[in-house]
Amino acid sequence: MCGIVAAVADRNIVPVLLEGLRKLEYRGYDSAGLALIDDSGLRRLRAVGRVAELTAQVDETHAAGNTGIAHTRWATHGVPCERNAHPHISGGLAVVHNGIIENHESLRSRLKDLAYVFTSDTDTEVVAHLIAHELKTESDLLAAVRRAVAQLQGAYAIAVVREADPSRLVVAREGAPLLLGLSGNGLYAASDASALVQVTRRMVYLENGDCAELTRDGYRIARVDGTPVERPESESQLSADAIELGNYRHYMQKEIFEQPVALANTLEMLGAARSIQPGIFGAESEELLRGVRQVLIIACGTSYHAGLVARYWLESIAGVACSVEVASEYRYRDSVADPRTLVVTISQSGETADTLAALHYAKSLGMHRTLCICNVPESSLVRENSLRFITRAGPEIGVASTKAFTTQLAALYLLTLVLAKVRDRLDAEQEAGELLAMRHLPMAVSMILELEPQIREWAECFSMKQHALFLGRGRHYPIAMEGALKLKEISYIHAEAYPAGELKHGPLALVDREMPVIAVAPNDVLLEKLKSNLQEVRARGGELWVFADADSEMKESDGIHVLHLPEHYGALSALLHVVPLQLLAYHVALVRGTDVDKPRNLAKSVTVE
Ligand code: F6R
Repeated sequence: MCGIVAAVADRNIVPVLLEGLRKLEYRGYDSAGLALIDDSGLRRLRAVGRVAELTAQVDETHAAGNTGIAHTRWATHGVPCERNAHPHISGGLAVVHNGIIENHESLRSRLKDLAYVFTSDTDTEVVAHLIAHELKTESDLLAAVRRAVAQLQGAYAIAVVREADPSRLVVAREGAPLLLGLSGNGLYAASDASALVQVTRRMVYLENGDCAELTRDGYRIARVDGTPVERPESESQLSADAIELGNYRHYMQKEIFEQPVALANTLEMLGAARSIQPGIFGAESEELLRGVRQVLIIACGTSYHAGLVARYWLESIAGVACSVEVASEYRYRDSVADPRTLVVTISQSGETADTLAALHYAKSLGMHRTLCICNVPESSLVRENSLRFITRAGPEIGVASTKAFTTQLAALYLLTLVLAKVRDRLDAEQEAGELLAMRHLPMAVSMILELEPQIREWAECFSMKQHALFLGRGRHYPIAMEGALKLKEISYIHAEAYPAGELKHGPLALVDREMPVIAVAPNDVLLEKLKSNLQEVRARGGELWVFADADSEMKESDGIHVLHLPEHYGALSALLHVVPLQLLAYHVALVRGTDVDKPRNLAKSVTVE
């Protein structure tokens, strides 16, 4: 979703702004723009489409300056067009914004009454006019921004520059990510660290309600009410290589193939131990987990699917009741809260607005045992939970989540084992066996990745299809859901997942020769039942594409294609069965020629509701 980069330095900052925008491209956007203060005053450039279009304008106009703000816009209010692209300008100042201003309509009508003229359909333009209006009675830019944001409802990260104040940059955040980058020859701000590691690793993460003023000599942070605050400086561990594509064609492909390493890194803390320590979730976790009566998992999209798989593990292995909620639904639902619930939020980015809001809601209902599973250590979500587990998947750039999902599952399996242990449901022998199985995961994924040539052949057969059905049972039903989500988001083929037993209650009506049916068919207790469901499909002329385990007795025949995974994986098989589905979606998208890493209409980090 929208990305912000801003800088004030003693050199031309335009190359830094453009490189920063390129690093934020993965978040999803449809237009880009920047504003600079140069010798002739405030200059703005905007372009619909890629950052490359904006770069061409910069080259053409030789734009340069020491102070500036830049933005990639993911349209929410107003169609993607140059008029709506950021920055927005009012009275000699320019603003970029990530988030949604919920009271923009009432502010707009008040500002119109005050004779401010609107030139875009965006909610952001009210912010520009509001600050300009405050500057009529307040000469200090930081104070004017504080007064303006105090009137906003909703979520924002903003950056502001002003012609009359050429060496000053002001930023503010509430509900959308923003951090400062500190270096000897300039100060920077951005939506995430990946935009700034080109110039510095010294970061300061702003909190909600913080406003900051940056000059070449230093910075100061104040709360919206003006109270000065200090925030700790940290060293970003993000490696510049981790965000390079290397020899891969797409980030999604790179990230699928990084899964063995991502899992090995995530599980590194296990070492060669035969037993697992509850402390992996945080210092106070043993005491906190011991008193847990039930688990409530809250997440969105792929992370939600990880939660659905975990429910099967938590109930059967740890014997703890578990419910899983879509964050955007939970946050607005009247629900019954038990203070002894462990609230688990799962998020790759840690900035998903719905997940954050759902966590706040759960806390407001009196549930304070909170744990997050997240891939970004510096994210808002990590800072808001009492317990945390950081998956070490490394930066995930492709919009379609892959390595974040499998590492989330690994973390959730560890949680299951810890809860089973503190509830006396895991003896020492079982515990050692489970840890051994987890250590085998990187190798198991590597072997599955070797199936890519066969999956590529299968993908050819899907490329002309309009629809696909995914079937699974038990803990593999959420894996079927994840397979369907991957296929639809990057290939634009309409895909739905069903628990196979539900077929005859409706979806079977859709099955004919044109409908490919993909089945996740591990060799577990439900396999025979699944086979009967597949016969129902075959009897209606449906063509089956089955992902089976090594020891499943499933044979290829007319209309039934079977791909055997290298092993039988037991309880962890859900984590492994998703890998061929990721590869299938990737190769179908390649054949169809879609924009794999930046599928239409989607953003990587969904920081607005
Ligand atoms: C799908 C996908 C999304 C995200 C969802 C939640 O491939 O990536 O469905 O899983 O937007 O994002 P996070 O995990 O960052 O909270």
